[in-house]
Amino acid sequence: MNNTTPKHVAIILDGNGRWATKRGLPRSMGHQKGATNLKKIVQTAHEEGIEVMSVFAFSTENWRRPQDEVDFLMGLPKAREQEILDALENPELPIRVVFSGRRDRINPYNRALMEKIEHDTAHHPGLILNICLDYGAQDELAQAAKAIALKVASNDLNVDDITPQTLSEHLYQPILPPVDLLIRTSGEQRISNFLLWQSAYAEFYFTKTHWPAFTPKKFKEALTAYGSRTRRFGKVSHDEK
Ligand code: IPE
Ligand code: IPE
Ligand code: MG
Repeated sequence: MNNTTPKHVAIILDGNGRWATKRGLPRSMGHQKGATNLKKIVQTAHEEGIEVMSVFAFSTENWRRPQDEVDFLMGLPKAREQEILDALENPELPIRVVFSGRRDRINPYNRALMEKIEHDTAHHPGLILNICLDYGAQDELAQAAKAIALKVASNDLNVDDITPQTLSEHLYQPILPPVDLLIRTSGEQRISNFLLWQSAYAEFYFTKTHWPAFTPKKFKEALTAYGSRTRRFGKVSHDEK
């Protein structure tokens, strides 16, 4: 039996730098193009009836890049603030935005903007866009373990009551469903510390296309590929029974 539309699609937006370098442009141009492309793909996801889209925008390891690149990436929200806020007011695309990741290393300007966006879109009925910024799955799981340990230490939780569900409830976005389809652009076939827990049974889709060149058509090809996968979740598939 084929799958229907995935509920939750996660994308590792990779290859901005290589896209630009290949064209003799600075890496920052790739990040600009990549940000513009996100808008198109979110629109397509909404039209396709996808409920949640998680995107990897900046990892806990990306701080190790050259300072000028980090500064450029962290300056993008301010540079494109009006465009972002206008897009989020479009009644034809009533998406809700949430952010996952550490907030303590994000500059105050961006942190305030993130809070405003989360607040202003909280009641939008459309797709939920989960933007993972200063996000690392190992960090997320460590902070969940810490929160659970504190509850045990204060006798608010019995150690025997800890289940996978308890862990899920202590992640950055406890309400989101598990990832059905995980896409990585630009040819690398690794997860790079993205949504480890949530992707336990995700279908993986790798494409050589760099993120700025990943068109709605290519996105739909990934959805078609997902549709032809057989998901078993440890069971025996229907056709073999
Ligand atoms: C993804 O593109 C964007 C971020 C990680 C911020 P890259 O910047 O990783 O591009 P490549 O992989 O170097 O080409
Ligand atoms: C993963 O891409 C992080 C984001 C897309 C934000 P990287 O380009 O940082 O991953 P590696 O270093 O190739 O594994
Ligand atoms: Mg990369």
